[in-house]
Amino acid sequence: MAHLIAPSLLSADFLNLQKSMDQLNASQADWLHYDVMDGNFVPNISFGLPVLQAIRKATNKPIDVHLMITQNDAFIQPFKDAGADILTVHYEACTHLHRTIQAIKQAGMKAGVALNPHTPVNVLKDIIADVDLVLIMSVNPGFGGQKFIPNAVNKVREAKAMIVSSGSAALIEVDGGVGMANIKSLIDAGADVLVAGNAVFAASDPVAAANELKNVK
Ligand code: DX5
Ligand code: ZN
Repeated sequence: MAHLIAPSLLSADFLNLQKSMDQLNASQADWLHYDVMDGNFVPNISFGLPVLQAIRKATNKPIDVHLMITQNDAFIQPFKDAGADILTVHYEACTHLHRTIQAIKQAGMKAGVALNPHTPVNVLKDIIADVDLVLIMSVNPGFGGQKFIPNAVNKVREAKAMIVSSGSAALIEVDGGVGMANIKSLIDAGADVLVAGNAVFAASDPVAAANELKNVK
């Protein structure tokens, strides 16, 4: 499968979100990545439901919501109603992950599970058949513009092997510090979806930057 590019709104121009959405729409990017932080699971607060509702009206591309919050279950239906297509929760935040994943799917969204840099891939063994997406964090979650942690490449390889051997159809997404310097190694390791915040929206030409990432072979 050709890889997908998901620019992260966290690095967009908050004084002019319409402009950032126009750039996304004009580019060959596939999804919009939408980072939600609660100041509890991660040491930062970003944006939530009302902003999602607004940007939902500004694109037809799928919106890939990454929840970095402690209380996930209470927000599944609200994020569906606000316009999420894919909803990803953190393994580290969910005591009853299987129940949470089923609830996301029942609400009519694709369900993802994210792993922090310190969390081994093998904890997903008994949930891999149920998830639509595995998100490998290649930075510690909470901020855009951080340095890529190279061990993420090994984790992508491990996730790929687990997905193939289990017969799961899950996609592998990589998030944090992704750019032209490492995208090829991630694709070669088995990554399907590459999140890019700073590499797109901090570039002088965000449309060209997204297209360049999309056209890596
Ligand atoms: C970090 C977020 C990322 C972030 C990526 O906690 O989950 O999605 O926006 O930004 P870059 O690509 O700049 O590292
Ligand atoms: Zn993210």
